Amino acid sequence: MKVFVVYCHPSEKSFTYIAKEEFLRGLQDANHEYVVSDLYKMNFNSELSETEYLREAFYKDDILVAKDVLEEQRKVQESDAIVFLYPVFWTEAPAKLVGWFDRVWSSGFAYAPNPKMKVLKKALFIVSAGKTI
Ligand SMILES: Cc1cc2nc3c(=O)[nH]c(=O)nc-3n(C[C@H](O)[C@H](O)[C@H](O)COP(=O)(O)O)c2cc1C
Repeated sequence: MKVFVVYCHPSEKSFTYIAKEEFLRGLQDANHEYVVSDLYKMNFNSELSETEYLREAFYKDDILVAKDVLEEQRKVQESDAIVFLYPVFWTEAPAKLVGWFDRVWSSGFAYAPNPKMKVLKKALFIVSAGKTI
């Protein structure tokens, strides 16, 4: 299976980073292919611009989708499964991942008109939360 892992944590000195490394090791051991979007490492721009807002809010699909967004959408289209791996920050996903959804789940891709997003076989959320200290 080809797996797209959307990973979001700012530090390698974290439980979530270790969980990600172990999960990838498991995928390798099971002979799955994978591609990772490490949102902090790739400095993913999580801010919806005004142009993007106008495209989404008013279904203006004549406005071109940004290259970095197209690249993320391509990863979805070429996968069989998607995994979101992130910590809870104030009861939410980290802002960078929320912004990934704002931009990548675009009109004409994830929703009307004529959404072309592939229906993947599996979606998995691996979410860390809480601390014992
Ligand atoms: C800014 C911030 C907000 C957090 N908010 C929550 C929260 O609302 N609920 C929760 O259970 N844990 C919260 N945590 C703890 C994280 O979920 C914790 O980082 C996670 O369990 C993984 O640990 P790690 O950072 O070592 O990977 C928060 C941590 C940070 C840094």
